[in-house]
Parts: sequence; C-alpha cells; structure tokens
Amino acid sequence: MDTERKIPEHVAIILDGNGRWAKKRHLPRSLGHREGCRTVEQTVYDAARAGIKYLTVYGFSTENWKRSSEEVGALMQLFRYYMKRLLGIAKENNVRVKVIGDRSRFDEDIIEGLDRLEQETENNTRLIFTIAVNYGARDEIRRAVQKIAKEVKAGTLDPEAITEQTISDHLDTAGLPDPDLLIRTGSELRLSNYLLWQNAYTEFYVTDVLWPDFNAEELDKAIDAYNQRERRFGNAK
Ligand code: IPE
Ligand code: IPE
Ligand code: MG
Repeated sequence: MDTERKIPEHVAIILDGNGRWAKKRHLPRSLGHREGCRTVEQTVYDAARAGIKYLTVYGFSTENWKRSSEEVGALMQLFRYYMKRLLGIAKENNVRVKVIGDRSRFDEDIIEGLDRLEQETENNTRLIFTIAVNYGARDEIRRAVQKIAKEVKAGTLDPEAITEQTISDHLDTAGLPDPDLLIRTGSELRLSNYLLWQNAYTEFYVTDVLWPDFNAEELDKAIDAYNQRERRFGNAK
C-alpha cells in the first residue's frame, strides 16, 4: 500500500470570507481585506515550506468591480502596498510571481507594479506563485478564443489542427499544470468563475474557515483531505 503523504503539486485557492471576518468584529470590510493580504503573504511561505510547487490565488474577480467604489478603492490601495512587499518576499524566498487576468483595466502604476513583479522574479524556482487579478475564467476563455481566431485569420493556424492543448496554451495559465487541489475558504460551494477550464479534474476542498483565519495548520488539513481522495480522471479503478 502506498502510505507516503502526497503533496499536491499545484494548489489553487479561492480566498473568501474577508468581509464576514470583519463584520464579526464590527470592523470595516477593508480591514478584513488587509488581514486577508497578510494571510496571502503567510500562505506563500507556508506553501513553499510544504513543498507545493505552484500556488494560484484568486485576488480580484472581473465581477468584483460591482462592489462599492469605497471597497474597490480600498482594495486598489492594498494592491499598491502589498505588491511592493510581495516583491521583496518573492526575491528573498526564490519565489516566481505570475499574474493572470486582464491587468489593462488597472491604473498605470498598478500595471507597472505587476509587470515588475513578474520581470524581477522570472528566474526564481522554488515556488511559482500566481495571482489572479481582474480575472474571470469566461473572460480568459474569450481572450484565448480571440487570440486563436487571429492566428487562424493570419493563416498561421489551421482550424483542423486545434487541440485541447492549443486552447490550454492560449489561456493566461499557459505553461502551468492544472491544479491538483482547489481550496475555498468561507464555506461557499461554487467556483465563482475561477479556472473553469483548468479545474476539470481538480479535487475540491471547502472549509468554513474565513480567509483571514487560514494558516499553515488549515493548509495541512486540506492536504490531509487531498490524501484521502482517490483521484480519477474518468478511468476505471
Ligand atoms: C474575498 O472576501 C476577497 C475578495 C473577493 C476580494 P470577500 O470580500 O468576498 O468576503 P465575504 O465573502 O464578503 O465575507
Ligand atoms: C470570489 O469571491 C472572488 C475572489 C476570491 C477574488 P467572491 O466573494 O467575489 O465570490 P461570490 O460572489 O461569493 O461568488
Ligand atoms: Mg465573498
């Protein structure tokens, strides 16, 4: 019997519950987001220490623009601050940072900060930390289809030659393996437009823990649960 504990190679996280965490403490939602950013930092360390190779977190969705301008503004200020901190942390810990989603909608200084995070960490190898900002899986697929259509129109791609791999290669996550484990904090049982294509055979783990309370112990519990699963990809036993 295989008794060795398996560490998922790629862990994706829907970090949810910042607002509820703040509400429970009669604090503004923005303070929940600030705590949530601290948890992201800590989780980057914890994932690297656990031997996870790819960590992909959902930071801001294409739908999150519908929140109040006050909340969106507070989130943008947090991005500005934590992007700079993250650059230092990534450099110190040999972490490569990648950004997925459509960054063009952000202010210029945020776009520059995101570009810099990617460029200055591109040779790091311990952990690939991908952050999804202004990310929506349907929008990602729409942009991928647009790229593919342009190649077909230019005559560089034969429509008959389009495979599943062609589609994967045109998504923002090109080059990353599909997630093995998806963790959602804050108890909701939905995907919220996250990595729809990539999560086709991912194991799901949902916890009631609110994101600011997530920690190394909770990550360990999720890995334990993953080890109880018998992975199937449509095959017979
Ligand atoms: C997740 O926490 C963070 C973002 C979506 C930016 P929420 O802000 O969704 O927290 P809840 O779900 O309202 O508790
Ligand atoms: C998902 O959380 C998006 C992020 C974690 C960035 P939401 O709180 O926005 O999702 P819903 O609204 O509960 O589906
Ligand atoms: Mg939420």
